Amino acid sequence: MKYNELLNRLYVISGEESEYEARVLIENFTKFSYSYVLSNRNVELSSSELLLALEKREARIPLQYIVGKWDFYRQTYIVNENCLIPRSDTEILVEKAVELLPENAHFLDLCTGSGCIAVSTLAERGDTSAIMVDKFKETLEIAKENAILNKVENRACPMLFDVLTQENMLDDMTFDAILSNPPYIRPEVIETLSEEVKKEPYAALYGGEDGLIFYNKIVSSYSKFLKKDGFFLFEIGYDQADDLIRIAHENGFNCLIFKDYGNNDRVAYLTK
Ligand SMILES: C[S@@+](CC[C@H](N)C(=O)[O-])C[C@H]1O[C@@H](n2cnc3c(N)ncnc32)[C@H](O)[C@@H]1O
Repeated sequence: MKYNELLNRLYVISGEESEYEARVLIENFTKFSYSYVLSNRNVELSSSELLLALEKREARIPLQYIVGKWDFYRQTYIVNENCLIPRSDTEILVEKAVELLPENAHFLDLCTGSGCIAVSTLAERGDTSAIMVDKFKETLEIAKENAILNKVENRACPMLFDVLTQENMLDDMTFDAILSNPPYIRPEVIETLSEEVKKEPYAALYGGEDGLIFYNKIVSSYSKFLKKDGFFLFEIGYDQADDLIRIAHENGFNCLIFKDYGNNDRVAYLTK
């Protein structure tokens, strides 16, 4: 297979992203550099690894799962079908955490997935420590591996429990902050998402019938674990700011909303 055939096959799936995807596949599954292939377009690319990767992509498996690793913030993460792929939209939450956490902070990351929020925050703030919580063993394994990969495992403690029902697992603990990017998509919206997103774990997307089940639960039941002056930082959907402000006020919190770099409402910051 030559470069143009690779590009044409990718174009059918990913349109204007096809050049970028071709580059990622060439760099990960052939012995050639992308720049070499661009200046030698007739070079034979076929390797069994590349063909397999292309077939997976044609089956609409996300590029990130095919490559098995992805960059988020300033770190690299192992990813597979057991975790949500870290999104650049989530980087603003990490930026805010890095900025707002007090010195030597101990924080909680609920619904940790790949661990990207906790691990990137710990990597940037060497004075902090965290507990990372997820309900699924296979998912928490990825978070642990990512803590090791990014050399923060001594400050990252994984805990396996259901955030919606088992907060008593944290009894006697307190935190300077509770961070979370919980599942927040409504079922009728999940139906409309791309084939690739639908390959991500349903449990990482589904936020209850109104998309708010985790925010309601966390704000009402986890505030007792916050130290005085402690705060919540949540990722939210672009259309959930009013809901978060309401949930905050119902539970005696103030709420500030921060936008992401696409100018969408993205992070809710709750303080007493
Ligand atoms: C939207 S993903 C976020 C992952 C990661 N924090 C990120 O920002 O990429 C939500 C995560 O919540 C986990 N989860 C779903 N339901 C849960 C529950 N009841 N208790 C704990 N974790 C849960 C999923 O396994 C998934 O890893």
